[in-house]
Amino acid sequence: MKKIELKIQITTFDSIEELPAIVNGLMKKAIEAKQNAYAPYSKFKVGAALLLDDGTIITGNNQENAAYPSGICAERVAIWKVSSEFPTKKILKLAISASSSSQILKEPVAPCGACRQTLSEYEIKQKDKIEVYFMGEEGEIIKTDSVLDLLPIAFDKTFL
Ligand code: THU
Repeated sequence: MKKIELKIQITTFDSIEELPAIVNGLMKKAIEAKQNAYAPYSKFKVGAALLLDDGTIITGNNQENAAYPSGICAERVAIWKVSSEFPTKKILKLAISASSSSQILKEPVAPCGACRQTLSEYEIKQKDKIEVYFMGEEGEIIKTDSVLDLLPIAFDKTFL
């Protein structure tokens, strides 16, 4: 038997003002995108913004459905927009922000497992890491250097 310790490194920023200018702008787009979230059931709004290698920013927000599992997260709306419209462009960075109607979210809201899996597909496909920045409504931001940092021991196409 062997026990193996897996380590990831995160970077934290106290507020969006502390982010590098490009990421500050990207996070503002994610916050803006949150406004168009369709979240009548959870009342939990999420915005995501992806920066592409030509400077284009593509945003997404969560879209819910009366048949609950038919709804979809902000991150997947955004990444599928990129893959369907700009399949050859590389994604450099992802910014995520969330707001709840029941509390002011002051802690970073991490992407869900299904979004990590979906995002990892495109990170692996493009052979370059995607930086991920996530926050609540205010307060600290967490950055990881790649999607796979958020998904250790991932399932990928090599198993198929
Ligand atoms: N949600 C996202 O948009 N992204 C995540 O990573 C976590 C959850 C959405 C899905 C649902 O509309 C609402 O937040 C509550 O789970």
